[in-house]
Amino acid sequence: MITILISNKYFTMSSLFKKYLMALTGIVLIGFVFVHMLGNLQILLGQESINAYAHALQSLPLPILWGSRIFLFACVVLHAFTAILLIKENRAARPVPNEVERTKRAGWSSLRMGLTGSIILAFVVFHLLHFTTRNLYPEYGELETATGSPDGEMIHDVYTMVLVGFRIDWISISYVICMFLLCRHLAHGVSSTFQSLGLRSESWSSKLDLASKAYAWVIFVGFSIVPLSVLADKYGLISFYSHNSLKTADLL
Ligand code: HEM
Repeated sequence: MITILISNKYFTMSSLFKKYLMALTGIVLIGFVFVHMLGNLQILLGQESINAYAHALQSLPLPILWGSRIFLFACVVLHAFTAILLIKENRAARPVPNEVERTKRAGWSSLRMGLTGSIILAFVVFHLLHFTTRNLYPEYGELETATGSPDGEMIHDVYTMVLVGFRIDWISISYVICMFLLCRHLAHGVSSTFQSLGLRSESWSSKLDLASKAYAWVIFVGFSIVPLSVLADKYGLISFYSHNSLKTADLL
């Protein structure tokens, strides 16, 4: 039975409920990163494509735009909060002698998940300040263009913002490191989602582990290709991106 008890600062839920909550919020986040990665890859199709896509998202009706942002935020908070509760619970559980090894392994993997999860959370905060609210580089807000606009009006130039953003070496390198940590988090997280939902049978377990790792590497490559290609373009290793907008904005 699910018990949620709030009294004298104690908040307890059944472990099963916590695991379901972790898995369900995890599925939403797994889906989000995939869709976001596909959206970002449109930068490879050119300025028009990524700007039109970003503009279409920003122009969604406010209840849909803010409803999905709030839903996503709630999933992140619940995922992190439940993870903390589960880690505490794992620590409190006393290992019986023949389970010491298993408990040690479970402890290590939850510690690793906690660590990668916390860094990803810090990354998301940085990322929002970088590209969404643009507090870190307020000048990004002034980048405007009609390229990708559906009606010729000036719109935010996401293409140039991403190019300018990733031409800064330490930013690109930090993004790639964070994408690697996201990959490690997903490699374990996706397969444990199946386990928590009771969808992992003995015969399927190695296939699920393989599928989780494959998914995690797809995410790593799909996200990292953007900062890495911008850096390669900057150092003349490839000539892929249009520099016109950078010249116009006096950023070259
Ligand atoms: C190289 C990797 C990434 C790139 C190039 C990228 C790019 C962007 C850009 C350009 C925006 C702003 C879009 C706009 O203002 O129209 C954005 C927003 C966002 N990104 Fe990323 N992103 C990356 C990785 C990630 C990852 C790994 C996560 C999550 C784990 C993430 C989560 C978000 C969120 C939550 C938003 C705000 C969405 C909104 O406005 O509601 N991003 N990203």
